[in-house]
Amino acid sequence: MKCKQLLVKGKAKSVYSTDVKDTLIIEFRDDITAFDGGKKDILSNKGNYNAEVSAFFFQYLGRNGVRTHFSTMLDPHHMVVRKLEMIPLEVIVRNIAAGSLVRNYPFREGTLLDPPLIVIDYKDDTRHDPMLNDEIIIALKLATPAELKKIKKMALEVNRLLGALLAAQGITLVDFKIEFGRRGKMVYLGDEISMDSMRLWDKTTGESLDKDVYRFEKGDVMAIYQKVAERITAPIKDLI
Ligand code: ADP
Ligand code: CDP
Repeated sequence: MKCKQLLVKGKAKSVYSTDVKDTLIIEFRDDITAFDGGKKDILSNKGNYNAEVSAFFFQYLGRNGVRTHFSTMLDPHHMVVRKLEMIPLEVIVRNIAAGSLVRNYPFREGTLLDPPLIVIDYKDDTRHDPMLNDEIIIALKLATPAELKKIKKMALEVNRLLGALLAAQGITLVDFKIEFGRRGKMVYLGDEISMDSMRLWDKTTGESLDKDVYRFEKGDVMAIYQKVAERITAPIKDLI
């Protein structure tokens, strides 16, 4: 299979059509951005680490009953996926207060959120991804009530599965963002799940193991991404 036509060039990934029906190739590029694209760099191999971790998570989730777009890897930074009609929602699940939750609301960083919070933002860079509520999502017809219910259920299931997998590796899943798409009446998990879209803390040291290292210049981003990718993808027999 080969990339045919560039369909979308996003901030960190490019999406190509292929010669196979309903099948796309996502290229994980080495671009990294933060603060609404205000901070940008190219970090050699970043795409490979994110693709490797995403593929690992999609396969693990798939084996555990979550419907995902993942098909296979063509090479370390090209992922073959099922084409979805993307739903423009950024679905964020939070287990511990951090990031914008702490900046915008009187939560103390590090507070356990039990049950986890689901926060849904509108995926629209020109509007700076404003937070939505169920009524706005339905009124804008971004998703139907049935889809929204399914999305929330799937997001919590992804959280449960990823939280258990990462905990076994000594990593706390603080929060993460996922995207969904539809095919007919079916909702699928799409896009990526990687160090760029999760907040991960080392359980013992509290050290950041994700894009916060880049955002706030906490250390050598690529050394940390490489170490985390190795740690996450180490086989854990009981869980997968
Ligand atoms: P962004 O700049 O929007 O964050 P990325 O650089 O992550 O985008 O580019 C990936 C693009 O591919 C996003 O627009 C995402 O919604 C889209 N996408 C992800 N998975 C699929 C899929 N299975 N089918 C169609 N589009 C997808
Ligand atoms: O990262 P920031 O503090 O600005 O935003 P957040 O709302 O605290 O982000 C919550 C989680 O979603 C973090 O793991 C982010 O990395 C992720 N996220 C993302 O991947 N893409 C976005 N556009 C927004 C958040």
